[in-house]
Amino acid sequence: MAEAGRVPLHTPLGLLAELTHRCPLGCPYCSNPLALEPRDGELDAATWARVFGEAAALGVLQVHLSGGEPGARRDLVEITAAAHDAGLYTNLITSAVGIAADTLHKLADAGLDHVQISIQDGAPESADRIAGYDGAFARKRALAAAVVGLKIPLTVNVVVHRANIDRIEAMVALALALGAGRVEVAHVQYYGWALRNRAALMPSAEQVTRAATAVERLRKRHHGEIVIDAVVPDYYARLPKPCVGGWGRRSLNVTPSGKVLPCHAAESIPGLEFWSVREHSLAEIWNSSPAFNAFRGTAWMKEPCRSCARREVDFGGCRCQAFALTGDAAATDPVCHLAPHHADVAALAAAQDDAPYAYRHM
Ligand code: SF4
Ligand code: FES
Repeated sequence: MAEAGRVPLHTPLGLLAELTHRCPLGCPYCSNPLALEPRDGELDAATWARVFGEAAALGVLQVHLSGGEPGARRDLVEITAAAHDAGLYTNLITSAVGIAADTLHKLADAGLDHVQISIQDGAPESADRIAGYDGAFARKRALAAAVVGLKIPLTVNVVVHRANIDRIEAMVALALALGAGRVEVAHVQYYGWALRNRAALMPSAEQVTRAATAVERLRKRHHGEIVIDAVVPDYYARLPKPCVGGWGRRSLNVTPSGKVLPCHAAESIPGLEFWSVREHSLAEIWNSSPAFNAFRGTAWMKEPCRSCARREVDFGGCRCQAFALTGDAAATDPVCHLAPHHADVAALAAAQDDAPYAYRHM
């Protein structure tokens, strides 16, 4: 592993503020950790305000107010105002369940810059079944209309998997009808709770190919109307994603209780030491936290990454996925076709079943 101070530090650009792990939905693809943090351990608004100030001083430009469901925080408006006052671009990532219309107006007054709403499918019945929450779809439509009515830019997040991947066209049509400027077609990431439902969520190779064709067709058809972001799902890719833009390189993730992680799923890797904003400044954590320095740079890499021309392009892929699939967080992400464990990924992709979802509830 790299030693602190030996790797040139980049400026972090984004901070994911997980305001709470509480969430009314029960999505089977939840990527939050298996051990959720309780309400009584959550940072208060004053501490978040201090963290946002430190983030801005460090060079962070954007804060993503996320969860769980950030609407579960009664002080969400105060927290949003603090991020805005710190000079950060504020993006609210919400399920839409739990944000009332009057709260949205107050958030807009507090300086909220952008909203991302997740949808589970293009039709109410299936969407509510996947979310494990009756009526969620109707609430998403209502909140999206209110966001657009307030002229706040809207992105629709579509998480795709076997049950909905064949309806990307309907979901993009819905995003257009809702007035979104962008739709993000994201395949399930198999971390945290989602790993339990992997076989039930995994699409087939044929579905993935059809989806890629549909995205290309939709991009042409709706050019200039809506931006469609989509990538090949990990288990069907030939090269890995540069996860979080490289470990400890561009982003920080603060959990509800104040632990600072290099990525959303970092706690799934055993043995890492995370520092908390309760005891350290964000600058100290960014510069010196053992977890941030664990996989910075390239010195920690093994072959084939160590001598690969792409090692500073994809940074060896995703550390959490490497650990989940090989038991070694310093291994080459098995998604890479050069990785010794690459064949395991194809076998896992083929291992699909129709078992009922294990829904996530706190
Ligand atoms: Fe990326 Fe490592 Fe694969 Fe090279 S061997 S492409 S650095 S994951
Ligand atoms: Fe942790 Fe990719 S999710 S490095």
